[in-house]
Amino acid sequence: MDLSVIVPTFNEGPNVAELVRRTTAALRGRAVEIVFVDDSTDDTPDIIRTVAATADVPVRLIHRDDPVGGLGGAVVEGFRAAASDRCVVMDGDLQHPPEIIADLLERAEMGDADVVVASRYIAGGTSDGLANAVRTTVSRASTLLTKAMFPKKLHNCSDPMTGFFLVDLRALDLESLRPRGFKILLEILARKQLRVAEVPFAFAPRFAGESKASLSQGMRFLTQLTMLRFGRMSAFAVVGGIGALANLAIMWALTEFGMEYLWAAVVASVITIIGNFLLLEYLVFADMRAESGQMWHRFAKSFAFNGIEAIVRIPVIGILVERAHLPSVLAAALTLVAAFVVRFVFHALVVYAPKKSRAARIAAVVEPLEDELAA
Ligand code: GDD
Ligand code: MN
Repeated sequence: MDLSVIVPTFNEGPNVAELVRRTTAALRGRAVEIVFVDDSTDDTPDIIRTVAATADVPVRLIHRDDPVGGLGGAVVEGFRAAASDRCVVMDGDLQHPPEIIADLLERAEMGDADVVVASRYIAGGTSDGLANAVRTTVSRASTLLTKAMFPKKLHNCSDPMTGFFLVDLRALDLESLRPRGFKILLEILARKQLRVAEVPFAFAPRFAGESKASLSQGMRFLTQLTMLRFGRMSAFAVVGGIGALANLAIMWALTEFGMEYLWAAVVASVITIIGNFLLLEYLVFADMRAESGQMWHRFAKSFAFNGIEAIVRIPVIGILVERAHLPSVLAAALTLVAAFVVRFVFHALVVYAPKKSRAARIAAVVEPLEDELAA
């Protein structure tokens, strides 16, 4: 097998036959397979099976009932199942012209690259197929931000946000990837210094169907970027900071509308406690939710921690001032820093502790912490 073509799909039925036809035509004379990793909620799997029955190359279907990690998780699952070490990742909507796969393969065969990126942003490439000016601007800006955050690892990559690339699995450590959301190439390139080459391509309009990109994918991307660069603890800190600001803003607004300040403080706190918890759930600890039991239990633990922290912190300030003779503001600042670290550790080890085996539980907590320490 020369090549496995991994195609993540979510409700892409009308594109399947055309994609298989063009991919097969573009790669005549090569031993290839096409692996659809499908999280669809419609009849896409049936369509893939039908097309597979008459295709000239092996067409495989992996349908996931539990779509962990979304698009990125699907791609990693495809890597695990691939018959070849050489894999191309390509969207299922023909925005990535299958004819380019031949270029990717030829470039890879020169032997000096672990990853060959199909780029919209080098001479000969275009991003004209992006739906509108907003998407183009967002794509450009996030590319710049990402390159600025990983200047060395992304030095040779003009398009880290593309979903179209070839990778040699022998150069990757699949276990170290933490796929979440759309940007799987970024996850691969940011984890490890790899040799990157590029070929240009023109990003085409969709053949059929609608884009699955959304604002929540955008938020997930920003969290991914923060976590890759600074670790989970910083994403946790950013959420805490946003919460503190929101708390003040809400309190200010309520008192402006005439609410008594103590009531305003209570309402602001309740809203920010819930808001913060949701941000932790869906962004910071999104990858640990599935294994850590019921959301309601996590909320109870997180809420209890806030209460206990508030009760414990004040007497500790007293002790630091009375016994250790620290200035009161310094004492308060120290307790805030300590509370932050303890809160993070408590959430990572207790609130989001996996419910599985003890060994798996320790590994899930310790390995990411090790990664962060290393970073
Ligand atoms: N298995 C699986 N699971 N596939 C998914 C999921 C999911 O949760 N979400 C989306 N996909 C599939 C889609 O079916 C499609 O084949 C591909 O992933 C890309 O999704 P689109 O909805 O077409 O996204 P896009 O066109 O906005 O984004 C593309 O362009 C970006 C660059 O601007 C993707 O290629 C991104 O990877 C790329 O970064
Ligand atoms: Mn698309």
